[in-house]
Amino acid sequence: ASAQIGVTGLAVMGANLARNLAHHGYTVAVHNRSIEKTDKLLDEHGDEGSFVRAETMEELVAALEKPRRVLIMVKAGEPTDAVIDSLVPLMESGDVIIDGGNARFTDTIRREADLKEKGLNFVGAGVSGGEEGALNGPSIMPGGSTEAYESLGPMLEKISAQVDGTPCCVHIGPDGAGHFVKMVHNGIEYADMQLIGEAYHLLRTGLGKSPAEVAEVFTSWNTGELESYLVEITAQVLAQVDHTTGEPMVDVIKDAAEQKGTGRWTVQSALDLGVPVSGIAEAVFARALSGHTEQRAAVQGMSGGSTSWSVEDAERFTEDVRQALYASKVVAYAQGFDQIAAGSAEHDWDVDLGDMAMIWRGGCIIRATFLDRIKEAYDADERPVSLIVAPFFAEVVEQAQDSWRRVVVTATQAGIPIPGFASALSYYDALRAERLPAALTQGLRDFFGAHTYERVDAEGDFHTLWGEDGRPEVQA
Ligand code: 6PG
Repeated sequence: ASAQIGVTGLAVMGANLARNLAHHGYTVAVHNRSIEKTDKLLDEHGDEGSFVRAETMEELVAALEKPRRVLIMVKAGEPTDAVIDSLVPLMESGDVIIDGGNARFTDTIRREADLKEKGLNFVGAGVSGGEEGALNGPSIMPGGSTEAYESLGPMLEKISAQVDGTPCCVHIGPDGAGHFVKMVHNGIEYADMQLIGEAYHLLRTGLGKSPAEVAEVFTSWNTGELESYLVEITAQVLAQVDHTTGEPMVDVIKDAAEQKGTGRWTVQSALDLGVPVSGIAEAVFARALSGHTEQRAAVQGMSGGSTSWSVEDAERFTEDVRQALYASKVVAYAQGFDQIAAGSAEHDWDVDLGDMAMIWRGGCIIRATFLDRIKEAYDADERPVSLIVAPFFAEVVEQAQDSWRRVVVTATQAGIPIPGFASALSYYDALRAERLPAALTQGLRDFFGAHTYERVDAEGDFHTLWGEDGRPEVQA
């Protein structure tokens, strides 16, 4: 028994995490359901560090020093349960099982409780950063008990991305907290990508730019406030040419976006928590809409805004789109952080929002320079009720105002769909409004269902005899 950690599931994420651990001096026992993958990893990368080849789960567990740590990197859902079931009889009290997949946080809560009864520690850890991150330093969001983190934390912190000497890994909170936070991270990722897509669509259509030219715009944006991994790789994706046709790659790819589920889960959870994550929801729905090819084909011939439009002042328009993107992004992050706060309160996780911003500064897909500012905002003595009112971001959003509105108006007139930009702006305007038509909603509910309402000028629940003399009755 000489390995400090075992990894089972050697698809690209598992294999790369195993290599990352080995690069940091750990002896890593590696296992896969089919031995071919294990041997491939060892053939290609066995000389990068110290590995132990395990042909069976028994061999994997036997190779580990105690308390044992096994990282599971298999598909979320049933495959994960199957691996846990085969591990449990082989492990003993105090050992740690880590699930580094994109598990649903409610599954993680269930698994953690089950294993606790058996004396085992279960850590649901969100891992972000794709293949490259897994190999060179991901952002890691581990949940589970404090005891488990004590045994595991130093290792995870070592292999995670580092920003200014700080690891992009922190103990998020008990049981499902880590996977919950990873889920919301992905929700924000969806929103971010949708907004980037809208910006690209507008620049391309409004300015008649080629994808390669739009790529240049993104490259220049990446030197400023919008600096982020997604903006950077947007430029690369847009600049890519298809080898077969010579066309821009983005024109060869089918425009139907897929999803594996984390974005949808984020919105489902937000609905349960009552948190309006409208930007994330629009992004999930936009992907769904893009896949409804039959409906799209049927509606395609119908009339819309001006089919050909051109922008007079290209420089101003580009700047307007940049501002709209920035402000809408702030809204998406604000909504995501609200959801983390609400989930944390609901489950007593005590998640530190400033820490979340901190560990997302590097390694993960939504890493962005402005996360430093988000961290500052949530680390302030008084936590802002919304990121939008934190001084730095209040200024960003207010400064973007005119541009943001012009973009929404222009796009709408031109018939370009901008669900992300428009809903973010409406969200802001709704929070800003002194009075909302929710009063009318309450009146209607009371009219047809005697659901009662509250008054602005008196305490209690009221019901009105609508259409009669109108006098309200106070409910007991
Ligand atoms: C990450 C990514 C990663 C993965 C998503 C993509 O943080 O590294 O989010 O987890 O790429 O599963 O999700 P969709 O397939 O749903 O777009």
